[in-house]
Amino acid sequence: GGDKEAGSTGGGDDKIVLGFSQVGAESGWRTANTESIKASAKAAGIELKFSDAQGKQENQISDIRGFITQKVDVIAFSPVVTSGWDAVLKEAKDANIPVILTDRAVDSQDTSLYKSFIGSDFKVEGEKAGEWLAKEYEGKTGDVNIVELQGTTGSAPAIDRQTGFAEKIKANPNLKVVKTQTGDFKRADGKTVMETFLQSTPKIDVLYAHNDDMGLGAIEAIEAAGKVPGKDIKIITVDAVRDGMTALAAGKINFIVECSPLLGDQLMEVVKKVNKGETVEKRILTKEGTFTPEQAKTELPNRKY
Ligand code: AHR
Repeated sequence: GGDKEAGSTGGGDDKIVLGFSQVGAESGWRTANTESIKASAKAAGIELKFSDAQGKQENQISDIRGFITQKVDVIAFSPVVTSGWDAVLKEAKDANIPVILTDRAVDSQDTSLYKSFIGSDFKVEGEKAGEWLAKEYEGKTGDVNIVELQGTTGSAPAIDRQTGFAEKIKANPNLKVVKTQTGDFKRADGKTVMETFLQSTPKIDVLYAHNDDMGLGAIEAIEAAGKVPGKDIKIITVDAVRDGMTALAAGKINFIVECSPLLGDQLMEVVKKVNKGETVEKRILTKEGTFTPEQAKTELPNRKY
């Protein structure tokens, strides 16, 4: 940061200082995302002050306040939930520190509170999952009981993946979401919630899990109940991390919608630009696809995370 006093950022040199507040370490996706951010900061010569909020918004708010006090050059964060950010973002703006949203959105009406939002379109991800399922049951009769494992309550990916999916299946009245509950994007929670679904709902045809980790936990519960994942219960997940892709290639998951955690390089590009006062695109979308079991087999050897 050129205009910062020497020593105020701890370095005394001209390195850009980036404060990053991460959601936590809830999933394989998140671990890959953290690694990407750390590696890209290093490669870009950016000094990274990284904090892990352990899934708590109050921790993220105090992390951001800490970054403001330390006078970092740029703040980036992945907001755990969408609401409740206006006050702290206003504080950053008043301190003239640009903010970049990474991975997840906020619901602030005042979009001048942040410079850019880099990440996936979670609603499109939900739509891709719903489209696949609608096609799978096209022309078939009889009720299809779907259970849904939602991500963290109030988070952008949980809200949007639910909405996008619901929109794409609603034309077929046979496709019924009979149970929906949060598993907080965690493998252990995916397992316990799936256990309760299996106990309360004798006929489950499909599981839609908002991420691979919850799907993988659910697979353990399904197998423990003596059912065959991928056959007795069709499974759709989101992310396409290595463990998810391995289960897909083995036929335990039927379809995965990709969500790329590799946001580090794009983030560092934007950090450099906003630090120079350049204008940046308000919305930077990640490119991603979908995978079937056959595609997973081909892709697995190249998978980086
Ligand atoms: O915000 C992205 C989501 O957060 C990922 O899909 C999920 O695995 C992670 O925990």
